[in-house]
Amino acid sequence: MRGLLTVSLVAAGLAGSAFAHIHDSDAPIRRRKSLGFGPIHPHAVFRSSPYQIQTNGFLPFSAASNPVEVARQFVEDRMAGRLTRDNTFIIRKDSYTDKNTGVTHVYIRQVVNGIEVADGDMNINVKDGVVLSYGDSFYNGTAPISHVDDNDDEHPHATFCSQLESEVLDRRDSLSEFFASQSGEQTILGSSADIKETIMGPIEHLYLSNCAHVNKPYQLAKEDPSVAGSIGDSKKALLQFMIAATPNDRVLQDILARYDHHLSNMVSSFETHLVGDHSVMVEHIDKVPDTVNPVKAKLVYVQVPKGDKTILNLVWKFEVEMQDNWYEASVSAIAPHRIISVVDWASDSPLPKQPETKVPATYNVFAWGINDPAEGNRTLQKEYYDALASPVGWHSLPYANDPQSHGLRRNKTDFWRNTSTTFGNNVFAHEDWEGQNSWLDNYRPNAGKDMIFDYKYKPKVTDDSDALDEAKKYINATVTQLFYTSNMVHDLYYRYGFDEVSGNFQQYNFGRGGEENDAVIANAQDGSGYNNANFMTPPDGQNGRCRMYLWSTANPYRDGDLEAGIVIHELSHGLSTRLTGGPANSGCLGWGESGGMGEGWGDFLATMIRSTRNYSDYPMGAWAANKETGIRNFIYSLNETINPSTYKTLDKPGYWGVHAIGEVWAEILWIVSQHLINKHGYIDTLFPPASLENGTVPEGDFYRPAEYTSTGQRKPLIPKHGNSLIVQLVLNGMKLQQCRPSFFDARDAIIQADQILTGGENFCDLWKGFSERGLGPDARVEGRTPWGGGIRTNDYTVPLACKEQKIPETPKEPGKPEEPEDVVFYVEPGVTKTSCKNRRTKAA
Ligand SMILES: *[C@@H]1O[C@H](CO)[C@@H](O)[C@H](O)[C@H]1NC(C)=O
Ligand SMILES: *[C@@H]1O[C@H](CO)[C@@H](O)[C@H](O)[C@H]1NC(C)=O
Ligand SMILES: *[C@@H]1O[C@H](CO)[C@@H](O)[C@H](O)[C@H]1NC(C)=O
Ligand SMILES: *[C@@H]1O[C@H](CO)[C@@H](O)[C@H](O)[C@H]1NC(C)=O
Ligand SMILES: *[C@@H]1O[C@H](CO)[C@@H](O)[C@H](O)[C@H]1NC(C)=O
Ligand SMILES: *[C@@H]1O[C@H](CO)[C@@H](O)[C@H](O)[C@H]1NC(C)=O
Ligand SMILES: *[C@@H]1O[C@H](CO)[C@@H](O)[C@H](O)[C@H]1NC(C)=O
Ligand SMILES: *[C@@H]1O[C@H](CO)[C@@H](O)[C@H](O)[C@H]1NC(C)=O
Repeated sequence: MRGLLTVSLVAAGLAGSAFAHIHDSDAPIRRRKSLGFGPIHPHAVFRSSPYQIQTNGFLPFSAASNPVEVARQFVEDRMAGRLTRDNTFIIRKDSYTDKNTGVTHVYIRQVVNGIEVADGDMNINVKDGVVLSYGDSFYNGTAPISHVDDNDDEHPHATFCSQLESEVLDRRDSLSEFFASQSGEQTILGSSADIKETIMGPIEHLYLSNCAHVNKPYQLAKEDPSVAGSIGDSKKALLQFMIAATPNDRVLQDILARYDHHLSNMVSSFETHLVGDHSVMVEHIDKVPDTVNPVKAKLVYVQVPKGDKTILNLVWKFEVEMQDNWYEASVSAIAPHRIISVVDWASDSPLPKQPETKVPATYNVFAWGINDPAEGNRTLQKEYYDALASPVGWHSLPYANDPQSHGLRRNKTDFWRNTSTTFGNNVFAHEDWEGQNSWLDNYRPNAGKDMIFDYKYKPKVTDDSDALDEAKKYINATVTQLFYTSNMVHDLYYRYGFDEVSGNFQQYNFGRGGEENDAVIANAQDGSGYNNANFMTPPDGQNGRCRMYLWSTANPYRDGDLEAGIVIHELSHGLSTRLTGGPANSGCLGWGESGGMGEGWGDFLATMIRSTRNYSDYPMGAWAANKETGIRNFIYSLNETINPSTYKTLDKPGYWGVHAIGEVWAEILWIVSQHLINKHGYIDTLFPPASLENGTVPEGDFYRPAEYTSTGQRKPLIPKHGNSLIVQLVLNGMKLQQCRPSFFDARDAIIQADQILTGGENFCDLWKGFSERGLGPDARVEGRTPWGGGIRTNDYTVPLACKEQKIPETPKEPGKPEEPEDVVFYVEPGVTKTSCKNRRTKAA
């Protein structure tokens, strides 16, 4: 059975596309292979109510206490009798205090037997001596006494894959039944091939990416039984991982054929790091097939569930940078054929010459707020830069942080290098037609002395075979646009608190903390794909990578770089990944609901940014995809007929992929945002006012009048309007929530963000928004799987405190029935509910 399934899935995968409904059959579309799974943590919690925290017996400290000390005491208290020399913790260096809210976000990592527990995290949010909320996924057992693996049957990867396989088979069966009940191939929902692709595509791709090699070649790495229980060779474990990870069949066959050759060919070097007072060895393994940089490896523990507890497995934790993926993977160190977890730091979306004196640059671009070329024309825009976010503008960076200067200054007095290209402190933008990993010397437009980036963009209809060459003619305009949009996003998010200490992307941090040398590398017209885009987020201090593609959905081709929504979506991956679980942990939004929300925040923020005072529904990626309803199943709308997504929608066929999950999250946030806009009104620009000379931010019409504490300190600034407030709450929520959050955790974090910022004045408005789409206080999920599966129950109620208030909005009818289960309902965008209902009756 398994063999059969694998073979037929390969065929489906090859025929499938990210975009089955685009009728451009020649489009060279490719689904990127991406692995992503890991153990469920049944014991992990996020607690955000004082009641829950007080019941632990932990009492507030004095307001003046050092917040990091408060967090330390809190952890010691929570670990109580379990805290020993062998079971302790470190306070991570990427902990920080939010400048506006004054909340200190403290990140804790568990250390057992002197070894880090890579998924033993606590995040503790402290203000004025009080623990406001915390997340905790610490291992709750005794320290293992040896590395002997007492759990040889446990193979999480294989377990996940067999679960997934039966899910695929079940869905295939119900689809076959459905088609058997149909008279012809063509249904009102589209052709059966389209339906199969829409329903089965994401889940089959998930299966193929993750499970193609799960049971095949692992015997290669079987350890010598005479040394069973000892720590194995990191290189064997790594080669095993590469067999599962490489998307390239030639590389795969070569590893299998010349296993020993590859093993002996890899070269290691070592460095040591301090973890608390333990020194930890980090291995750099070079010459690993299909990687583009040496792989980092270190020994850590990860937790594997056993009943409602977890046990510790000793693993090699690898950071593997490949052409299209950047993996954080853990592979058993005892039995290197077992992959325990994988997070891909890459996320898709279906998507020097010196001027004499410094003049601000001018760009001919689609101005901020114009989502795409269908919405407006290009105009000349000044280098906007926000003086707080980008103090030296978008085209300067210190020689010391300039990868092109290799740290060499031209002379001792020169500190800044000022460029006249799309190369600066926040963003390096350039073409990447070759689709290769190299970027430093790729082509960038050079505006010369006057700094005017004004280039032609007049794409012509050509023969299909010339469409690519035609698109390349506008590379100057397109790189300029990508640079402009990316810098605007940098400056905007900075002003809402994505700054240096919280892990933003900059080469130089102006002495304001955080890790530097991590501007975004932005590839325009990247040759490694079409009809998509992606972003890779390594931890703070390493460059993010954004790859934008051409879309072969029309002639002339449409260039993703020109659609702001797509660029914003991608850059938002960097935002949510760095803010969730702390700047140094990029493994918190890897799969399932967390990974889905990673997509959803991007759609939501892109939609908020393009929205205007007059309400409108919005699709995602409509221009690039050349499809009115865009690249998601539904357009974002308040109207349930137009967008029926609810929390329970996640149970439906076709929703086991991060994009579909994200679409539901984005829709829920969209509903919530409109509740705040109804209450607080709308402001035309999301950019707060420029700061004064002395760094003080004036309130303008943007913030509420400043308030001061009894000691004369200014209280946190609160955006006055609904649209700016929701953006602020969403970002603050990302900082509060724990690693690997669920929808519930992220919802609770947003509600707590409001509590902290406004004293909770929007408590009921937020709950009403969430409840409208089933995410009320009693929403539940049972049988959660790593892919985001499970059985969910919607709750349309609001907390008691809100029922008692008179809120003048349409309440849900009591006893509203759940959407019945079926395979066809959520397939084809644009189909009206009525016709789906008919169909459903027939199918049932
Ligand atoms: C840890 O395990 C003990 C014993 O099983 C249990 O009583 C306690 O509640 C657990 N603590 C946490 C934080 O899960
Ligand atoms: C380069 O930029 C820096 C930082 O903005 C500025 O102080 C300096 O004057 C500029 N140098 C030149 C030659 O324009
Ligand atoms: C762009 O400008 C042209 C010519 O002025 C005009 O016809 C067209 O409607 C404009 N396009 C948009 C999307 O505003
Ligand atoms: C260093 O370079 C700057 C910019 O070219 C120049 O103005 C200055 O005179 C140089 N200083 C020395 C000491 O050479
Ligand atoms: C880009 O602009 C430069 C001038 O800065 C020009 O020489 C070059 O031909 C342009 N490239 C294309 C493809 O038009
Ligand atoms: C919003 O609608 C009003 C009234 O219909 C109109 O006057 C105004 O121009 C519109 N504003 C925008 C930004 O579209
Ligand atoms: C919702 O959309 C449907 C379908 O377009 C439409 O018939 C209905 O009137 C809309 N409802 C509201 C409240 O706008
Ligand atoms: C900054 O300048 C403004 C306006 O000049 C003044 O009102 C404010 O008190 C100053 N703030 C600080 C911290 O000096």
